[in-house]
Amino acid sequence: MAEKLKLLFSKKEIAEAVTRLAGEISADYKGKRVVLIGILKGAFVFLADLARQMTIPAEIDFMRIASYGSRRESSGEVTVKKDVEVTLEGSDVLIVEDIVDTGLSLRFLIDHLRSHNPSSLRVCALVDKKSRREVDVHVDYTGFVIDEGFIVGYGIDFNEQYRALPEIFVIV
Ligand code: IMP
Ligand code: MG
Repeated sequence: MAEKLKLLFSKKEIAEAVTRLAGEISADYKGKRVVLIGILKGAFVFLADLARQMTIPAEIDFMRIASYGSRRESSGEVTVKKDVEVTLEGSDVLIVEDIVDTGLSLRFLIDHLRSHNPSSLRVCALVDKKSRREVDVHVDYTGFVIDEGFIVGYGIDFNEQYRALPEIFVIV
């Protein structure tokens, strides 16, 4: 059954946010060995656009994690499905996430990546659902803050659907 979608962020709004983030990141990481770690699958489109808007070179890798238990209850048991492959020791690592919601996934990712001894570790999220936070995690670079709603498009899915939509929609 097809969901009803309402446009939330247009191509232009997304492009502006990505350009702004890429500018901030390029300035902050100038002269450093930056490694962007995209969190699959949701961040694949965002990472591709972000990396191409950056004016400094970056290494790129991916991680994929899986959460078990009901997301609503946030029982939050997380496991690694695909780990990073590049060396992070001594590098400046930036996690690139689609959405930070309860923060449980990000908490796990931060703890996991810290164990690889990067020089620094920061977070860039396209969308921050700040008011839904259950664990204290800091997002350094934020595209959009939203209060409620389930969103899809621009890499983000509902049951593996809608990832290829070029804009971001909210399911109504
Ligand atoms: P957290 O662990 O609760 O912060 O969950 C973050 C992850 O849940 C995101 O990376 C998404 O994969 C997924 N998620 C949270 N909100 C949405 C949404 O509105 N649409 C699609 N996926 C979502
Ligand atoms: Mg995700």
